[in-house]
Amino acid sequence: MLTIKNLSAGYGGPIIIHDVALEVGEGQIVTIIGPNGAGKSTVLRSIFGLTQIEKGSSIFFHQNNLIGLPTSETAERGICYVPQGRSIFPTMSVEENLEMGAYIRKNKEEIRENMEYVYEKFPRLYERRHQKTKTLSGGEQQMVAFGRALMLKPELLLLDEPSIGLAPKVVADIFEKLLEIRKDGTAILMVEQNAHMALEISDVGYVLELGRNKLHGPGKELLQDDRIAEAYLGKISGK
Ligand SMILES: Nc1ncnc2c1ncn2[C@@H]1O[C@H](COP(=O)(O)OP(=O)(O)OP(=O)(O)O)[C@@H](O)[C@H]1O
Ligand SMILES: [Mg+2]
Repeated sequence: MLTIKNLSAGYGGPIIIHDVALEVGEGQIVTIIGPNGAGKSTVLRSIFGLTQIEKGSSIFFHQNNLIGLPTSETAERGICYVPQGRSIFPTMSVEENLEMGAYIRKNKEEIRENMEYVYEKFPRLYERRHQKTKTLSGGEQQMVAFGRALMLKPELLLLDEPSIGLAPKVVADIFEKLLEIRKDGTAILMVEQNAHMALEISDVGYVLELGRNKLHGPGKELLQDDRIAEAYLGKISGK
């Protein structure tokens, strides 16, 4: 459903990512891993129209080119983005944050249905719906960020480091939720430092280094790959 080819982009200065190729199929979970500064977030931002994209790049969602579209139009077409650091509104309640997620929707009934879906997925958010989000735990705040993105019932969810700063047990819960969200029909493209846990639930993984594709393959295969094990999984090859 998402096909990226020859993607080169930056922020007006030097080009940061070069000829990146990546695909997300219908209902897949795809993870990008790689060292700090590799350009992982830049790939997600490019899909969402937040970078300067070089000529010759293409980003197709179904049959349509996304390059040049305003972000609201990209969201309208079914892609939602949770940036690194979540960026929820701390002094607003859980429910107000969720309402903000539906900003491009006018149909009240549809908004209510989507909110019910989010509360069904995250009962904890329902319990805390009137609480300011700054009073929530890190895991709960991440759920608000997911919930807000799910208010548009996207076909594709872009997540930048969803597990950052969370305890391993909370990360496991969050990844469990991602599997459920996928089962409900939303594909996921995420960037993760937590390579091991992310690749375990991913259909496909991509390794990005110095702004370029390094390798890719099924998540489970990458977990067995010595090059990945040494660089990203904290293992020494042969063990
Ligand atoms: N808004 C910006 N303006 C200019 N340069 C930027 C901007 N955002 C990122 N960069 C630069 O682009 C390069 C890649 O950054 P990016 O955030 O895509 O990497 P990353 O792989 O997501 O790293 P991390 O793991 O640290 O999040 C870095 O050298 C960074 O300094
Ligand atoms: Mg990043």
